[in-house]
Amino acid sequence: MDVGTPQNRDSWGSKAAFILAAAGSAVGLGNIWGFPTQAGRNGGAAFLIVYLVAVAIIGAPVMLAELMIGRNTQRNPVGAFKRLAPNTMWWLIGAIGVLTGVMILSFYSVIAGWTLSYIVKAVTGTFTSSTDTNALFGQVAGTPGQAIGWHLAFMVLTAWVVLGGIRDGIERSTKILMPLLVIILILLSVRAVTLPGAGEGLGFYLKPDFSVIDGGVIISAIGQAFFSLSLGMGAMITYGSYLDKKQELVSSAAWVTGFDTAIAFLAGLIIFPTLFSSGFNPDVEGPSMVFVVLPQLLSSMPPQPYGGIIFGTGFFMLLAIAALTSSISLLEVGVTWAVDEKGWSRRKAALLLAALAFVIGIPSALGNGAVSWLTHVPGVGIDFLDLMFTIFGSFGLIVGALFISAFVGWKWGVGNAGDEVRATDGSFALGGLWVVLIRYVCPIALVGILVHTLLQTF
Ligand code: PHE
Repeated sequence: MDVGTPQNRDSWGSKAAFILAAAGSAVGLGNIWGFPTQAGRNGGAAFLIVYLVAVAIIGAPVMLAELMIGRNTQRNPVGAFKRLAPNTMWWLIGAIGVLTGVMILSFYSVIAGWTLSYIVKAVTGTFTSSTDTNALFGQVAGTPGQAIGWHLAFMVLTAWVVLGGIRDGIERSTKILMPLLVIILILLSVRAVTLPGAGEGLGFYLKPDFSVIDGGVIISAIGQAFFSLSLGMGAMITYGSYLDKKQELVSSAAWVTGFDTAIAFLAGLIIFPTLFSSGFNPDVEGPSMVFVVLPQLLSSMPPQPYGGIIFGTGFFMLLAIAALTSSISLLEVGVTWAVDEKGWSRRKAALLLAALAFVIGIPSALGNGAVSWLTHVPGVGIDFLDLMFTIFGSFGLIVGALFISAFVGWKWGVGNAGDEVRATDGSFALGGLWVVLIRYVCPIALVGILVHTLLQTF
């Protein structure tokens, strides 16, 4: 269904459908790969605790703020700011969000493409205890044809779901995929915590050593929270804009935030016991944790030789599903914008924007071994994908979230925002606390991070 005007706009079928789709957006590579990687580098349990605090006092209030804007205006991020603050420049925040969505999608699809290729490898029995997973990763990520081909395959899958629209595309697929994801996750975590030697991994993950917490750990945790919760670029404004004015807001925001956090927690519960039980260091670089170390461990799971097939397929299906329900939200932001603001058909918008993201993603696909100057970008020393992540996945979201919290706290105003909540929720649970967080705590913390980051960079 096309959604040119608010009157004939598509909408979620129920509150549960919205929560599943929004949780689908939130739960992604950021949870299952990003969170354990960050926790592994930043002290395990201590990071977990800082992360939980960051989610509660910065993530959750911004989540609610985005949903308020979306539901109130029933518009894409650009149109939403135009409507709430006409004849001002605030719409630029929405525009940056739309751009950021396409940019994140461009490299997200590259990584997600690797997961597709790993599913095929796992099913066909490639993962055995003698597999050299380092060489295998080199083959997938470092061969131009494979890297670009799988990136294309994943982008096509994403566009295909988005073409179906909100109710028949996104809602229908997340209703199947999310329960499947939870089942796989629970099965894998039961296996992981019962591995011989799992206790040490659990200790690393659950017994905090507070002395490791410093500014860097706090900043990583806040950045991770935004990426993981899909905040700062209008994904939740967009999903919120398809909520009809009957669904409660505060509990929806709480469900999505809680769900995302629970899944990240479970992912750590799978990864750390698995790593420690085989004597691996949790502090691993870049993609290697999920694409090199873990396959090695999954491959050697009993019963041999089927362990690699069963656990490898399960794990990479989990990753691919999580990635797909997120990538569709990244594309949907741009599609909703093009349909609302430019009057394009959903079909044209989905195909053109996916094609654009595919092309922009090519250097990221080639920067993992295939082309050397993209693997070590001159002057910055990191690979192109990492560079894109730093600019759009990290910096871009923090800037976006800063302006969103400032907008809701000070420009649109907490009074108007509160009315939007009370329209459906009756009263505004924890409203006083939310006001303090969105007006003071979020903007101050985010400005602090930006200043700190800029000082470190220059
Ligand atoms: N939240 C997704 C993840 O954890 C990524 C994402 C970021 C999706 C921003 C949409 C918007 O993988």
